[in-house]
Amino acid sequence: MEALITLLPGDGIGPEIVAQAHRVLQRIAAKFGHEFRFQTLLMGGIAIDETGDPLPAETLAGCRQSDAILLGAVGGPKWDDPSAKTRPEAGLLRIRKELGLYANLRPIVMFPELVDASPLKREIVEGTDILFVRELTGGIYFGPSGREMRDGVECAFATAIYSVPEIERVTRLAALAARQRRGKLTMVDKANVLEPSRLWRQVCERMMRKEFPDVQYNVVLVDAMAMHLIQRPRDFDVVVTSNLFGDILTDEASVLPGSLGLLPSASLGDRPPGLFEPIHGSAPDIAGQDVANPLATILAAAMLLRHGLKLETEAATIEHAVRTVLANGARTRDIAGSGPSIGTAAMGEHVLNSIG
Ligand code: IPM
Ligand code: MG
Repeated sequence: MEALITLLPGDGIGPEIVAQAHRVLQRIAAKFGHEFRFQTLLMGGIAIDETGDPLPAETLAGCRQSDAILLGAVGGPKWDDPSAKTRPEAGLLRIRKELGLYANLRPIVMFPELVDASPLKREIVEGTDILFVRELTGGIYFGPSGREMRDGVECAFATAIYSVPEIERVTRLAALAARQRRGKLTMVDKANVLEPSRLWRQVCERMMRKEFPDVQYNVVLVDAMAMHLIQRPRDFDVVVTSNLFGDILTDEASVLPGSLGLLPSASLGDRPPGLFEPIHGSAPDIAGQDVANPLATILAAAMLLRHGLKLETEAATIEHAVRTVLANGARTRDIAGSGPSIGTAAMGEHVLNSIG
C-alpha cells in the first residue's frame, strides 16, 4: 500500500525517539512491500521559535493531506512562561480539535518482563490490560473560559459542556473495542455532583442497552476509580471517560507498568489521519543524550499501522519485536533498575534486528 506519513518530532527527546520509530516504519515498509512516504513538519515549541505559532498553517495543511501522523512530544521550560502569548500545548489541543480526533486510546499493558519495575506489588499488577478511551475534543478543555471581576474580586472560570452526540460517538467506539477484547466497559464520571456527568450516564446507559446488550457495562465515580486503579487494576477491560478525568486517570494508570517509556496512544476521529504518539512528554532534562526510551514511540508506530492504515499484521510484527527485545534483556536506563542499560539508538537497532 501507499501512504503519506507526517512526522512531528516536536521538542525535547521528540526528535530522537521519532527517528527510531521512523526507521522501524521504513523497515516494515521494506519487509511487507509498502510504499510509505514521510514528511517532517514543525510543531510545538520549536514551531513557536521558528514561526511564532505552535501549529503553523503549513503543518496543519500537511497533516490534513497525510494518511497518519506520528508525534514525538511538545513543550519544555523554555516555553513555560505563563504570560507568554502562546504555548506548545496549545498546538496539541488545536490539532486534536481541527482534525476531529475525539477518541484517545491509551492502552495500559503490563509487560511480563518488567513486572518488577512497577511501583506496585506483582500480585496486584500482573496481567493488567486496560484500554482507556478518553474523550479528547470536548468538556472543560474546550468550553468557555476566562477571567472576570465579580464583586470587585478577580475570578477565573472554565466550563464543561458535552452534547449527546459527543458522548455517543466516543462511547460507541469504546464499546466496539470492548467487544473485540474481554467484553467489559466501565464508564467513569462524577454524576453525584456534575450535570455533564449525569448526561453521560443517561446517554451511555441508553446506548449500551440498545446497541451493546452483549457488553458488560458498569459505572464508577472518578474518585473511587482513582483508588480501584491501584487496588485492582486487573478488573478493568475498557474504560471510557471525559477529557479531564481521562487526562488524570491515564497518568495515574501509566505508572502501573513501571515506565512511561513503554506506553503509546492513538487519537482517532471518524476519518484519517489519526494522530499517534507516546504518552510521555518531552523530557527536556534528558534530551539529546541518547538515553530516552524509544519503545513508546515505536509502539505508537504500531498503533499507527493498526488503526491508521489498517495494517494489523505489520502492527503485530512491531509489537512482537518489542516483546522479543525486552525478553532478551535489552533495557534503556528508565527500565534498567540497577542493571546495565543501552541508549536510544541502540534500542531502535535491536527492534530493527528483531523485525528482520
Ligand atoms: C496529555 C497532555 C495534554 C492534555 C497537555 C499537554 C495539553 O497532558 O496528552 O495527556 O492535557 O491533554
Ligand atoms: Mg495528560
